[in-house]
Amino acid sequence: MTAIIPDLIRKKRDGLEHTREELETLVLGYTRGDVPDYQMSAWLMAVFLRGMAEQETADLTMVMAESGDLMNLGDLPRTVDKHSTGGVGDKTSLILTPMLAALGQTVAKMSGRGLAHTGGTIDKLESIPGWTSELEEEQFLTQAREIGLALVGQSRDLAPADGKLYALRDVTATVDCLPLIASSIMSKKLASGAHTVVLDVKVGAGAFMRTLDAGRGLARAMVDIGTRAGRQVRAVLTDMDTPLGHMAGNSLEVLEALATLRGEGPTDLTELCVALAVEALAAQGEDETAAEARARATLQDGSALAKFRAFIAAQGGDATYVDDVSKFDVAPGRADVTAPESGFVAGIDALSVGRAVLVLGGGRERKGEAIDHGVGVELLRKPGEAVRAGEPVLRIYHRGGRGLDAATRLLTEGLTLGAQAPAPEPLILDRVF
Ligand code: URA
Repeated sequence: MTAIIPDLIRKKRDGLEHTREELETLVLGYTRGDVPDYQMSAWLMAVFLRGMAEQETADLTMVMAESGDLMNLGDLPRTVDKHSTGGVGDKTSLILTPMLAALGQTVAKMSGRGLAHTGGTIDKLESIPGWTSELEEEQFLTQAREIGLALVGQSRDLAPADGKLYALRDVTATVDCLPLIASSIMSKKLASGAHTVVLDVKVGAGAFMRTLDAGRGLARAMVDIGTRAGRQVRAVLTDMDTPLGHMAGNSLEVLEALATLRGEGPTDLTELCVALAVEALAAQGEDETAAEARARATLQDGSALAKFRAFIAAQGGDATYVDDVSKFDVAPGRADVTAPESGFVAGIDALSVGRAVLVLGGGRERKGEAIDHGVGVELLRKPGEAVRAGEPVLRIYHRGGRGLDAATRLLTEGLTLGAQAPAPEPLILDRVF
């Protein structure tokens, strides 16, 4: 069998298109261990340099999705999944998923842990004692049916080809390749089974996609893959130059999510959650104006917060944390980064904030490392706001000074002041469907 692999590598090297059968030979062979790393590495680099056609990318995605178990959400009504390409301070899933449940949708979702400078929903929720992401399939489905929201960790049996390929891409400089990113993300979404998928494609300093054009290309590719597979898929492109909301770090982000669920959240975060909820409903044919009014109402009338409370309790969490936020373990150490001169905040680099949380102990460099849920960074000011020399702009929550010097350095470097207020940038840059 391996005899034909060089022919397939040559075919991609020469810029030709693979058939679905050829992709099965490569990808399933690699997943089984029949195709060695060196041949798959050569093929990945050929893809990186030559790209992939639309149908070919869709076929690759299906092959990866079908490389393991396919989640059967059975007859659950109006199943919705959401994916963000990863950001700093991005706690949207914590807010959007109970909003969707309150809107009569069913969210039976797999979420990830944080890696490097980006956070993960599972880590954030584990700030609430007792909450677990480990549910048996039957409980997962029953809870989704009863509450409209159930959330588990990524199963190893879901799109296993992606897990293996991603690890190989990571060490062969082939991660930042549009068809490979699109197929990686969408293979997991398709295997997870939801009928409607909303994608939040982050663009900017803290994101995979640095430019709007690159982000649009990725969004288009993912929407096309999902549509070809018979799903309702919509994407929004959002700015990730600056962290979302005011908080970065696990407990701090849950606190901000709870404030948003009470209708008291920061504008950017609230607007993004409403926009994503509207996309989910509009994808199913609902009028956008009506959808927006319904989505906003869930944050004002307590219905999204009630769903969140029920969801936390159902997964073993201490639901009293939802109503008594003083219970959260927030690291007691405080240090402020102040403005060196008077002016306007021109930028707070999301990547620097993400890295600061990491060095404080709130993230992990490698899978499986323990994290400190209580540390983090608060943006006391956001870009566009005036500040006087010596006033605090960023607040560090640290534990016993761990990582404090490095975090202070990162945040100081990531803060830009200007003499004039920068032109306001919209958070939502574009929509693709
Ligand atoms: N996220 C994924 O799941 N895969 C990629 O390739 C990039 C981001």
